[in-house]
Amino acid sequence: MSLRPYIVGNWKMNGTRAMLSEARAIDRAAQRYMKVEVAVAPPYTLIHAVHREAEQIAVGAQDCHPGVEGAHTGDISAVMAADAGAKFVILGHSERRQDHGESNELVRTKVESALGAGLNVILCCGEPEEKREEGKHEKFVLNQLRLSLPEEIEEPGDRLTIAYEPIWAIGTGRTPTLNDIAAMHASIRAFLVEKFGEEQGGLVRILYGGSVKPENAREILSVENVGGALVGGASLTADSFMNIALAAGDGEDQ
Ligand code: 13P
Repeated sequence: MSLRPYIVGNWKMNGTRAMLSEARAIDRAAQRYMKVEVAVAPPYTLIHAVHREAEQIAVGAQDCHPGVEGAHTGDISAVMAADAGAKFVILGHSERRQDHGESNELVRTKVESALGAGLNVILCCGEPEEKREEGKHEKFVLNQLRLSLPEEIEEPGDRLTIAYEPIWAIGTGRTPTLNDIAAMHASIRAFLVEKFGEEQGGLVRILYGGSVKPENAREILSVENVGGALVGGASLTADSFMNIALAAGDGEDQ
């Protein structure tokens, strides 16, 4: 179990083998920032190659099918992602929920399958803008978590990370206020403590995601209950991504 800040790059549908040089540069820099846990989730096609190059960073997948194997053209199971070198998987990302109609119930079966295959899980949640305007954002997010999490998880403090990503902040350059981030993360923490108990619920890291950049990382990461960041656009170059990691580690090479 690690309480180090966790900085995860979600490359989404970006990256060919030409991106391996960025992965190498991220890995080299991560070896100097030992106060921070750094990971990347490249597209499936690069998982094995990044895994082979990486000495310090963990590699993850961006999704998985709930099954183990079978007649599901185009799908990848958690077992297969783990075999390629993935240590974790991002599940329930809003782009999966929107582009592929993924329900909370489907996400829950994926979480179960991924944990069963030995992968750690980063479970995403986050409200659309209208829910925030209606003041129903907290209820919406906690309901997502309630329905997307299995009844029981062994050692959730080790195996589970939550990523709060308000949909309207993803790729828009907009972010909630620090008070709004603090309020949502406190509610998620209270939910986790109620579900998993004081100790384990207190150990699950809660990442913030949505337009995290080197310029705003330090203040966002200083908010209580923010245990790291899930970074999209700014994770695509080692330079911007590792400046976020540097901000997470108090701005010092270690
Ligand atoms: P951006 O950092 O590009 O806003 O993306 C956030 C995200 O969706 C990470 O999963």
